[in-house]
Amino acid sequence: MLLATKLRGLEAPKPAASSQEPAASSQKCYFSAVTKDAARRRIAVVPGDGIGKEVIAQALHVIRATGAPVDFTEFDWSADRYLRDGTTIPADGFAMLTRDYDAVFVGALGDPRVPSNVHAKDILLGMRFKMDLYANVRPVKCLDDSLCPLKNRKASEIDFVVIRENTEGPYVDVGGVFKQGTPDEVAVQEDVNTRKGVERVIRYAFEYARRHGRKKVLMTDKANVMTYAHGLWQRVFKEVAAEYADIGAQHMYVDALCMHMVRDPAQFDVIVTNNMFGDIITDLAAALQGGLGMAASGNIHPGRRSMFEPVHGSAPPFAGKNIANPMGAILTAAMMLDHLGRASEAKKINDAVLEAVRQKKTTQDIGGSLGTRECGEWIQQQVTGNR
Ligand code: NAD
Ligand code: IPM
Ligand code: MN
Repeated sequence: MLLATKLRGLEAPKPAASSQEPAASSQKCYFSAVTKDAARRRIAVVPGDGIGKEVIAQALHVIRATGAPVDFTEFDWSADRYLRDGTTIPADGFAMLTRDYDAVFVGALGDPRVPSNVHAKDILLGMRFKMDLYANVRPVKCLDDSLCPLKNRKASEIDFVVIRENTEGPYVDVGGVFKQGTPDEVAVQEDVNTRKGVERVIRYAFEYARRHGRKKVLMTDKANVMTYAHGLWQRVFKEVAAEYADIGAQHMYVDALCMHMVRDPAQFDVIVTNNMFGDIITDLAAALQGGLGMAASGNIHPGRRSMFEPVHGSAPPFAGKNIANPMGAILTAAMMLDHLGRASEAKKINDAVLEAVRQKKTTQDIGGSLGTRECGEWIQQQVTGNR
């Protein structure tokens, strides 16, 4: 049974629900008159569902305010589109993103009207897997003491980065159910870890540490229980760490890491971990930054088309109410510009967000009284003023 389900899980991807991309209804182009300039960068934008749409709209205004030479093409891949015509991602979607764009900017995917979450799986996990975006980089930086939820800790003590493996683990959908609906039901979900997958993300973490002047890489796992899967992580981590004598290497079990993260976050520098633990600890880490509304991320394959998205989801109860915090998306936009070689524009955005936090020009979740739009506009004006 196990072998059969494994093979089922690993078989070639199914064709998308609809192979037709009705261009006019699905994509909007901005600044198309100026796309001939070779220095300009093309960004595919997928606002997605719920608050994703609201926060991405603000992030785009802020990017424009920097004057960075970028053009946006918006795609309506979302629950709305799926419910309308069955399309999750068009058949050539990933090839098109890779061929025609320099980066992809995503809001969030997930909608209670699609309980199977099939569109989010196809679009979001599809990008991560099919574009092979193996390193999910999630910086954890608390911008101001007022955002720090820990007693007797300063914002300056919360400054680390989680590098999450992004293409393997239980996310690969290998498994199945047997005797479903009976008292003898069996459910199996395999945790897939390949030597190549583990090695490249660990190496990425050490390279990242070198590039960013960080001193230490900590690998976290649960090798005391996941002896086969995380035994592989342990062996590979030791081997790769030996090649980076200038960077410290440390290991911690993930349960202990959660405890240390709230008791003494200052000890962390670069954390590398598997897909599932990376997902979980970065929500915890988001709380150290003031909440999910503050956390940014990039899904990277060095040298290839990469994708940027805030850590938070579509927050259905917040959707359409102009209350979502746009800062996670705006900080993600800065990460994307930095990745595209526009470090000075990225810095302007980061500085403006910092100033907004200091002056409490924020949404309610972090203590301000502004709406999503008003917060975005304040940051946009701050960026414009600094040009
Ligand atoms: P969520 O991140 O959407 O929201 C959890 C809670 O965090 C919210 O109720 C809210 O209190 C807070 N929050 C999140 N973003 C915020 C923001 N910008 N401003 C202020 N507060 C914010 O997680 P969830 O409720 O578990 O998931 C909702 C849907 O989003 C699900 O369908 C889930 O699968 C999906 N999801 C998608 C992504 C993604 O697309 N990258 C990430 C996480 C969850
Ligand atoms: C995230 C999200 C996704 C994940 C979900 C929506 C599939 O929680 O990006 O953190 O688990 O990776
Ligand atoms: Mn998550």
